[in-house]
Amino acid sequence: MQHVTPENLDAVEGVRAYLASQEKKSLLRFLTCGSVDDGKSTLIGRLLSDTKQIFEDQLATLEQDSRRHGTTGDEMDFALLVDGLEAEREQGITIDVAYRFFATPKRKFIVADTPGHEQYTRNMATGASTCDLAIVLVDARQGVLRQTRRHTVIASLLGIRHIVVAINKIDLVGFDQGVFDRIVADYRAFAGTLGFRTMEAIPISARYGDNVSQRSEQLDWYSGPTLVEHLETVPVDDEAVERPFRLPVQYVNRPNLDFRGFAGTIASGSVSPGDAVVVAKSGRQAKVRRIVAQGGDLDRAVAGQAVTLVLDEEVEVSRGNVLVAPSARPQVADRFSASVVWFDEKVLRPGAGYVLRTATDQASATVDKISHRLNINDFSEEEARELELNEVGDVTITLQSPVAFDAFAENRTTGAFILIDRITNATVGAGMIRQAIRRADNIHWQSLDVGRDARATLKHQRPAVLWFTGLSGSGKSTIANLLEKKLHAAGRHTYILDGDNVRHGLNRDLGFTEADRAENIRRVAEVARLMADAGLIVIVSFISPFRSERLLARELMTEGEFIEVFVDTPFEECVRRDPKGLYAKALKGEIDNFTGVDSPYESPENPELRLQTLGRTPEEMVEAVERWLTERDIAQQHYESGGGI
Ligand code: ADX
Repeated sequence: MQHVTPENLDAVEGVRAYLASQEKKSLLRFLTCGSVDDGKSTLIGRLLSDTKQIFEDQLATLEQDSRRHGTTGDEMDFALLVDGLEAEREQGITIDVAYRFFATPKRKFIVADTPGHEQYTRNMATGASTCDLAIVLVDARQGVLRQTRRHTVIASLLGIRHIVVAINKIDLVGFDQGVFDRIVADYRAFAGTLGFRTMEAIPISARYGDNVSQRSEQLDWYSGPTLVEHLETVPVDDEAVERPFRLPVQYVNRPNLDFRGFAGTIASGSVSPGDAVVVAKSGRQAKVRRIVAQGGDLDRAVAGQAVTLVLDEEVEVSRGNVLVAPSARPQVADRFSASVVWFDEKVLRPGAGYVLRTATDQASATVDKISHRLNINDFSEEEARELELNEVGDVTITLQSPVAFDAFAENRTTGAFILIDRITNATVGAGMIRQAIRRADNIHWQSLDVGRDARATLKHQRPAVLWFTGLSGSGKSTIANLLEKKLHAAGRHTYILDGDNVRHGLNRDLGFTEADRAENIRRVAEVARLMADAGLIVIVSFISPFRSERLLARELMTEGEFIEVFVDTPFEECVRRDPKGLYAKALKGEIDNFTGVDSPYESPENPELRLQTLGRTPEEMVEAVERWLTERDIAQQHYESGGGI
C-alpha cells in the first residue's frame, strides 16, 4: 500500500480507488503531541506499520537503516521511518505538518504529524486545528512535564474534545501499574477542567508495540482498550453539519464565460440547490443553482465537502468572502476579543501591527491590549504586558477592515485566525475569536446598487483625498482653501474637511491628547472615505501629527486615492507667523500638548507632495499641487466613453 500525503496525492496511482473503497468508513483526524523524545515518531511509525500502510520496499530500507543507525538493537526503529519521511517535506514544502493516512477495517485515519520540539508549538497548533482527537504522549519515566501541560491546554483551546494520554515507554519502568496510576492521576488533576469530552489513559510501548494494536501480555493489570481499539471506537462528532451553513470561498472558478462558481470546503452546515445564501461581507443574496463536485452535481453537500457553488444571479463574491445561511449570519466586525497562542521569539506587545488571516480573508491588524496571560500550571489569569514564545493569553484585536467570522466556540473554522509578521512573513500566533467588540450588535453590511464608480462618473471626475498635514500655522488651510476655489471654478466637485471646523461639530468632544488626536484623525479619515465614495475630491487639512494615523487613513482609501501633501514650514516660521496667537500662549505654558511645543510632529517620510512654503506664495503652492494632479490625470474632466458635456 502506498503511503499517501497531500503532496503526492495526485501522483499516487489508484489512490482514488482506495479512497472510494474506504468511503463508507468514518474518518478520525488526530495528532500526537507531548515533549521531545516522548516517542511521537516511533508511535506514528508503529501505527503505520501495524496497519500495513508502509510500502514493502520502505520496510526493507527501514530494516537496513535500523541496523545501521538504529538505537533499538534488533527491533526496527520506527522513528527512522517517520523522520525519513520528514526529509521529503523539508524540500521547500511550506507546510510544517505532514498528514499521514491509514485505515483499519473499522475506520480510516488522518494523523497530523508535527515536529515536536518546544519551539514548534506552532506546528502542533497548526496540526491540532483540524483534529478531533489528540494523543498526548507521556514518557513513563518523566511523568507530566511542562510541554505535556502546554500541548494539552493548546489542544483544548483549539477545540479538540477527545484526549488519549498514552503513557509510553512503560517497558522502561517494568510495566509498573503504580507509575501508570500516578501519572494518570497527575494528568487528570490538571486536565480535568479543560472540557474534554473523553479522556482515555493507555499504557503503551510504542517501540515494542505493547497496547498499540496488540494487547500486551506484560500489562495484564490493564483492562482498557488498546490504542487502536480506542481510536476505532471513540465517537467522531458530526456536529459541524448541524451548524449554520458556511462556505469560505477559496477561489472563484471561471473556466469560461458561461461558468462562474465559488469553490471551497464547506466549514459547517449543509446546502442544497434552491437554498438562499448571502455573501457575508456585502449582504448580497442569491440562490444556489448547482452544487458541482468532483463526481458530478450534488443534491446536497455537507460540512467537510469540497464543492463549487453556482448561483442564480451574478453577485460579487471575492475570494476571502464567506457564503452563509441568510437566517444565521456570521459577525462582520473590525474589532474582537480572542485567545492567542504566541509562536514567535519576538514577544507580542500591544500596539504592534500584524496581518491577520482567517480561513480565506485577511486584514491589517493591531493587538490593542492583552487582557491577561494564562498560567498553564494552575490556569490562573495573570496580568501581562506582553506574551512570550509559547504563551497563551487573551487579547483585543482591531482590524483595518472588517472580516466575517463566528465565535470559535460556534465554529472551529470560521472562528480561527493566524497572525503573520509583516516583515518576515512568518506565522507568529494562532487565535480563537471570542466575540466582536462593538457598540451596537446585529449590524450587517447593507448592499447598495449605486456604486462609487457610478457616482464619480456622474461627476465626470476621479475621486481623491488630498491629505494636508503640517504644523499649526504652516499654511495648510490657506493653501487648501485656494486650491478648492480653483478646482471648484474648473467644475470639480470638492469638499474641505478642516481641523478647526470639524472640531466644532463632529469632533467637538475631542481634545489634544495623543488618544484624542488619534480618534480625531480616525473619524476624519472615515468621513473622507465616505466623501470619496460619494465621488468627491476631498481636501483634508489637519495637523495629523502621527505617522501611524496617517498610514491608517491611507490604508482606508482605495489604491492611489490618498495623496499626502506635507506642508513643510519650519517650526520657527510658524511661531513667527502665529496667525491665531496660539504659539505665544503655548510657549508661555498656557496651552497643553501644543504640537511642536510639548507634543511631537512626525514629518511624513514619503509624502506624494512636499510643499516648502518658506519664501513662496500660497498661489505658487497651489500651482505645484495642480501640476502634480494634472500630470497624474487626477483633477481632469473624465467623460464616459461617447459621452461628454
Ligand atoms: S490634530 O493634531 O488633531 O490633527 P487639528 O488639525 O484637528 O489637530 O486641530 C489643530 C487646530 O486646533 C490648530 O490649528 C489650532 O488652531 C487648534 N489647537 C488648539 N489647541 C491645540 C494644540 N494643543 N495643539 C495643536 N493645535 C491646537
